[in-house]
Amino acid sequence: MYKVERTLEGPSYDSDEPLGIRFATSEDLRALEWEGEYVRYRRLFQRAVEEAQNGRRILLLAEIDEQLVGQIFMQLTTRANFSTEGVSSGYLYAFRVKSLFRNRGVGSQLLHEAEQNLVSRGFLRAVISVGKRNVAARRLYERAGYAVFTEDSGDWSYLDHLGRLREVSEPAFVLEKWL
Ligand SMILES: CC(C)(COP(=O)(O)OP(=O)(O)OC[C@H]1O[C@@H](n2cnc3c(N)ncnc32)[C@H](O)[C@@H]1OP(=O)(O)O)[C@@H](O)C(=O)NCCC(=O)NCCS
Repeated sequence: MYKVERTLEGPSYDSDEPLGIRFATSEDLRALEWEGEYVRYRRLFQRAVEEAQNGRRILLLAEIDEQLVGQIFMQLTTRANFSTEGVSSGYLYAFRVKSLFRNRGVGSQLLHEAEQNLVSRGFLRAVISVGKRNVAARRLYERAGYAVFTEDSGDWSYLDHLGRLREVSEPAFVLEKWL
């Protein structure tokens, strides 16, 4: 199993309970629904875990005292319009920290660990979309070295846990960082 407790390098986490970061497995599928808050993404999570098993995604979970407190996922083949020819990029998404655990550095640690995973696999660039109204998340990314390089309509759709088609539209800035 992969696990880190990072305090020497990268953004720090100051708490009595150590923060652990590890890969998600199929055993985490229920926990990824965050007590029902994200049950609508059940099918997406199942596919993400399958793709992680095939090496096409990386799913990282942050835990305190064995409780899930945050996550970040990476897609290792970016959408064509977000990729630079000849450069392998990781597309970061599903990045969130439970509200009780925010503003303690958990998000920054997850972002840092995600980048380390990309670097260790030879990826040169990380890409992330952020809703245009999500000022706080954008500030975190810019402080971590990301810069806006394009915009996206944020239109996409998925089948929820009941098989209903859900359509999403969240105009976003798309940021990149050279690793
Ligand atoms: C965006 C998100 C993942 C950030 O997670 P987080 O754990 O709060 O992130 P951090 O704690 O590393 O950084 C947040 C702030 O806390 C500050 N901070 C970091 N470590 C800290 C510490 N030890 N003590 C006090 N403050 C700290 C950071 O400086 C940062 O300040 P800022 O608001 O000026 O940017 C979280 O807010 C979230 O889940 N939001 C909802 C979902 C979302 O918007 N996801 C992003 C989609 S693109």
